[in-house]
Amino acid sequence: MTAQTTLAQYLESYTTPQLASTMTTLATASVAISHLLDKGALAGIHGEAGGQNVQGEAQKKLDVISNDLLLNALIHNPNCAGVASEELDEISPANDDGTLLVTFDPLDGSSNIDINMTVGTIFSILPYHNQGQRACESDFLQKGENQLGAGYFIYGTSTMLAVTFGDGVAMFSFDPMSQTYILINDDVRISHDTAEYAINASNRRYWLEPIATYIEELTQGDTGVRAKDYNMRWVAAMIADVHRILIRGGVFMYPFDTKIAGKAGKLRLMYEANPMSFVIEQAGGASTDGVQRIMDITPTHIHQRIPVVLGAKEEVEYVKALYEKAGILANGDKASE
Ligand code: F6P
Repeated sequence: MTAQTTLAQYLESYTTPQLASTMTTLATASVAISHLLDKGALAGIHGEAGGQNVQGEAQKKLDVISNDLLLNALIHNPNCAGVASEELDEISPANDDGTLLVTFDPLDGSSNIDINMTVGTIFSILPYHNQGQRACESDFLQKGENQLGAGYFIYGTSTMLAVTFGDGVAMFSFDPMSQTYILINDDVRISHDTAEYAINASNRRYWLEPIATYIEELTQGDTGVRAKDYNMRWVAAMIADVHRILIRGGVFMYPFDTKIAGKAGKLRLMYEANPMSFVIEQAGGASTDGVQRIMDITPTHIHQRIPVVLGAKEEVEYVKALYEKAGILANGDKASE
């Protein structure tokens, strides 16, 4: 494909009509979200919901507006049997004859809006097998392995789309002139040679031993066992941290920690971990909860949380070996022999 291939042309060549139509719906909503973000404070999207914007109108947070935009667009797409959003407690059934289910995080990193930093929309597309019946939560509880498509729209210095349909990762850049996504790379590969890592190091005292050991090794740099210096970066929006790792290599971690008793992790399996895992694996990387491959995990709940360690394969394997050495699982339970 040439550098001027549009998203529509790409979808026509590489996906089914159902997936192409669903992706087009997602892309159209992303453009509306991107325009709102461009207007920033002038669109009255900063601050908390419940306040007033400069025109004195009731204010909605942009994550709520983005959620409504995506949800309304998807439930009117005939291919879509149901939608689940990180923002909503319940799933939304759509068209009983649809063949696809969509989950999304409408605005990942939304606390970044007020400081004019990168945010994004993460999506995952799953098959729907119960045509003729109303979709329910159990229909969504499929392993990430079942995903037919996944990716993210990132609203940064420019708006971009990274997407996979299970045959590599394609990257698009939004062209404000033509108002279309243009293909910029049809085979994104994650670098194996890595010198960057991303983790919220303020949680250090709550980490399990393997992660504490790993980060200690990285911070020792060329004076430690890794024998080279590493840089740490943390945007505090998974979308931005994972995008950087996809482009520049490295490892992203939000591991299990003991900060809040009973919390299995911070990130959501179905809205964040699975779609990002699909993208990272398709780019040649790896994604685990520290030990187990994320896309092999059968969800028990639509809003399930999970620890995440993803990025360059060698680093993810290295972390896994540290858990194995400690004889524990990603949540600290003893590993069975
Ligand atoms: O989904 C929650 C999220 O905003 C992620 O996008 C991000 O990686 C993480 O939380 C940041 O967490 P913390 O506030 O602990 O740095």
